[in-house]
Amino acid sequence: MKKAVCPGSFDPVTFGHLDVFERAAEQFDHVTVAVLHNGTKSGLFSMEQRIEMITECVKPYPNIIVDTFNGLLADYCKENGISAIFKGLRAVSDFDYELQMAQMNSRLGVDTLFVATNPEYSFLSSSIIKEIAKFGGDVSGLVPENVNTALKAQLSAKS
Ligand code: PNS
Repeated sequence: MKKAVCPGSFDPVTFGHLDVFERAAEQFDHVTVAVLHNGTKSGLFSMEQRIEMITECVKPYPNIIVDTFNGLLADYCKENGISAIFKGLRAVSDFDYELQMAQMNSRLGVDTLFVATNPEYSFLSSSIIKEIAKFGGDVSGLVPENVNTALKAQLSAKS
């Protein structure tokens, strides 16, 4: 069974991420969306909220699961029999850092496969979504409905 991982912070997940998950699920038998548990960096959403939102979004895909990890991604892959890291590349600006990580992860024993992000979502990032939502901008069509609702609730609770 060919397994891949889509790693990230997903604070929160966007349609850009979901597009990459779907494409990974077409190419691999089993896909794990692995949410980085970063103890030092607190985000807008808790780990539990991020996992709940992603789990809801990937319900239609029987070969996608959601998990968390900390430590090295390459170790997580080896421990879980995952042979590939599957990521989206939005623009040249992503490339330098992604190449560096891919080469290091390759040295650590796990290859990375990139897909070109759907142009419809190539300008999207979790940070820009949070920025727009914070100032009351409309992010519907860019994030799933459950994420949009959670963003409004979380931001109004914080203000
Ligand atoms: O969504 P992000 O924050 O851009 O995702 C970055 C992520 C989680 C893919 C990256 O930081 C990562 O893999 N972290 C785990 C620690 C690790 O393995 N670092 C070495 C990378 S070569």
